[in-house]
Amino acid sequence: MSLEEEIKKRRTFGIISHPDAGKTTLTEKLLLFGGAINIAGAVKSNKIKKTAASDFMEIERQRGISVSTSVLAFNYKDKKINILDTPGHKDFAEDTYRTLTAVDSVIVVIDVAKGVEEQTEKLVEVCRMRQIPIIVFINKLDREGKDAFDLLDEIEKKLAFSVTPLSFPIGIGHNFKGIYNIYKKNINIYRNHQKQTIGNKITFDSLHDQELESIIGKKDIEILKEELELIKGVYPLFDKNSYLKGDLQPVFFGSALNNYGVEDLLKCFVEIAPFPLPKHSEKRIVDPKEKKFSGFIFKIHANMDPNHRNRLAFVKIVSGTFNRNTPYFHVRNNKNLKFSAPNTFFAEKKEIVDISYPGDIVGLHDSGNFKIGDTLTSGENLNFKGIPNFSPEHFRYINNTNPMKAKQLAKGISQLMDEGIAQLFILNLNGRKVIGTVGALQFEVIQYRLLHEYGAECDYENINIYKACWVEADEESSSFKNFRRIKQKYLAHDKEGKLVFLSDSEFSLKMAETNFKDLQFHFTSEF
Ligand code: G4P
Repeated sequence: MSLEEEIKKRRTFGIISHPDAGKTTLTEKLLLFGGAINIAGAVKSNKIKKTAASDFMEIERQRGISVSTSVLAFNYKDKKINILDTPGHKDFAEDTYRTLTAVDSVIVVIDVAKGVEEQTEKLVEVCRMRQIPIIVFINKLDREGKDAFDLLDEIEKKLAFSVTPLSFPIGIGHNFKGIYNIYKKNINIYRNHQKQTIGNKITFDSLHDQELESIIGKKDIEILKEELELIKGVYPLFDKNSYLKGDLQPVFFGSALNNYGVEDLLKCFVEIAPFPLPKHSEKRIVDPKEKKFSGFIFKIHANMDPNHRNRLAFVKIVSGTFNRNTPYFHVRNNKNLKFSAPNTFFAEKKEIVDISYPGDIVGLHDSGNFKIGDTLTSGENLNFKGIPNFSPEHFRYINNTNPMKAKQLAKGISQLMDEGIAQLFILNLNGRKVIGTVGALQFEVIQYRLLHEYGAECDYENINIYKACWVEADEESSSFKNFRRIKQKYLAHDKEGKLVFLSDSEFSLKMAETNFKDLQFHFTSEF
């Protein structure tokens, strides 16, 4: 198969949702329909979200499990599907944002009863920034929920989507009978509540089928016809280009738990979802069809075993082929690296792979060379754009409590930051280290891991910071010099040496914006 054919086969995507909407269940059902597993319940779900905030031993255990669910690949028809797992817990949201830089499209799962929830809004915003094509799956139709049209309205308003339903339910909750597939113009009636295996539906090709009428009744057919008319009148017709540009979001209805509508979703997804597309680097746009390999690291997973401080770096292949035992150029460190045992992921298994193609994710064993956002190439000096840091929500001073282990602590902090668990800011005034995280949970994780993996001990001290903003300014301007003088107590540098303003309140940030108009304050490190 040519490189181009391999590229066109691939669909690399992520499933995002507010916790509990059914992301894990849907992932598993896609594997089931793809034939990668035979029975639901086989893939351990990443249930970090359900553990109490203080239960970090559980987090550690789950971290181990989530290596195997970080990428789930399977073949469906003639396509190779790569699902990238995104943590549901909001404390790990930044991990999800970064994973979204490696997907070519996204499926958003929404709970039919709860509608659009907070975490969904945040994640969709990140997708929209990147114009990622999105399909919506409205889940849990076996339960009572909101009216389908009201929900479509809510999705349009809250997520700023332009939706087009590609399926529509017949009844909901107790009255749920089946789903009309607008995309394929057929109708599936579900007979029993078979959850773990598939094969519980009958498909009709026409609404005029006598048997269909005898099963669901004339009245429901009439209602469905009216609803389909309304859909035609109100929503734009599906247009693949608009979907691919991120301007139109197709919607499917179903129940992941009961297998309703999952196959319709999967079949349409492989037809319309994009294969790997060109990606911007700082210098130029890189086309997947280029023969020379390039890729970037979007996730680093630490090893559970404290005796082997070995990590797994996840590389998304952007162009060319990635071959085992071939030297590749690590751009940031300016050195060549060779990988004798690159991993691929198939269903929930990890295997050594000889050759991988654009869209694929390869796991590379790493002893500390990599950091999130690094680019690997066949020799070219280029860097891919687009793995930003976001302003953390929580900040604390980190202090060394064992002076004999200062070196270990510094190394540990540095490596954990490279993994992207948290961000380090060093205060300009006194060189003190401040850790910033998205959720409070990470502080415990960091403390625990520093001790168990690096033998270093630390404690934290409160510091009152509202937000970290990256400052952009003409460094020679008097305004900037003034700003530095007045705010010196609040200025720090991030790990890349970029200037950061750690503002102590919303008010003081607003004042800084007003008083220093020619300075720009950014909430992400990429501007
Ligand atoms: P998440 O990854 O988005 O957080 O959600 P997950 O799939 O873990 O699903 C959250 C809960 O919702 C689970 O129940 C799951 O069984 C249930 N669920 C998922 N899809 C459907 C559906 O279509 N209909 C109904 N009725 N429930 C659904 P749980 O009791 O929290 O967990 P579990 O013990 O069943 O795993």
